[in-house]
Amino acid sequence: MARIALITGGAQGIGHACAEALKEDGCEVVLWDVKEEVRDAAEALGGTGYVVDMGDPAAIASAFDAMEAEVGVASVLVNNAGIAVGADFLEMSEAQFRQVLDVNLVGVFLATQRAAKAMVREGIEGAIVNMSSINAQVAIPQIAGYCASKGGVMQLTKVASLALAPHNIRVNAVGPGSIDTAMMAAVNADPAAFDRAMSRTPLKRPGTAREIGDVVAFLASDKASYVTGETIYVDGGRLGLNYTV
Ligand SMILES: NC(=O)c1ccc[n+]([C@@H]2O[C@H](COP(=O)([O-])OP(=O)(O)OC[C@H]3O[C@@H](n4cnc5c(N)ncnc54)[C@H](O)[C@@H]3O)[C@@H](O)[C@H]2O)c1
Repeated sequence: MARIALITGGAQGIGHACAEALKEDGCEVVLWDVKEEVRDAAEALGGTGYVVDMGDPAAIASAFDAMEAEVGVASVLVNNAGIAVGADFLEMSEAQFRQVLDVNLVGVFLATQRAAKAMVREGIEGAIVNMSSINAQVAIPQIAGYCASKGGVMQLTKVASLALAPHNIRVNAVGPGSIDTAMMAAVNADPAAFDRAMSRTPLKRPGTAREIGDVVAFLASDKASYVTGETIYVDGGRLGLNYTV
């Protein structure tokens, strides 16, 4: 029987590329997204789409109920849905900060806990992969909530890996650098910002969504059977660069 892989934020971008890679690895994919388009995106991959707001705990709980009744229990969870809200640090509102934390960190905790409970109940030795970012390490003052959330995801990944190791459930994260998706649209539209980002990227190009999806699929597979609690940075060398000019 095919492993069921649940990917949040799967309607487009990195999440969709994760779904393509996991499908190629033989998984049945279930995509969740706040956008309606998720249904068609999932259908195109022979899977099932649900409209779910990962910032809404009640919506997450009822989506798990629906998925488990209609499709089954996921063996793979990719916590990919994420948002970035930009504002000057001195001006960022509490609401803006909380909005980002709710989706990028609280949503990851709730989905991880609920998916893991089902795996434990069913005796599934599953894998969870969280989408962090180089911003778990690299601080950018205009996106305080985003950086805090991604640092939180890195540490939540370690915590969950320890908590779930006795059940042989592995938990890892991927930390992308500059990846060519809608999230990078503002940078792509501004040549100076693009050149700045590339000057800090040793491989001198943005990554593709699929280059992230392939690492996620590796971490979800038995090839990574002794890897847990790790964040793998897929960033064209960005974190290794001691940028001083
Ligand atoms: N693109 C990059 O350069 C980059 C770099 C580092 C990390 N990331 C991370 O990768 C992940 C995917 O981003 P992307 O680049 O594909 O961006 P994207 O904006 O193209 O895709 C994000 C997806 O998440 C969905 N989403 C947003 N809020 C949601 C919510 N509340 N509930 C459910 N779904 C929601 C969106 O509708 C969208 O389909 C994010 O967690 C992001 O932080 C991206």
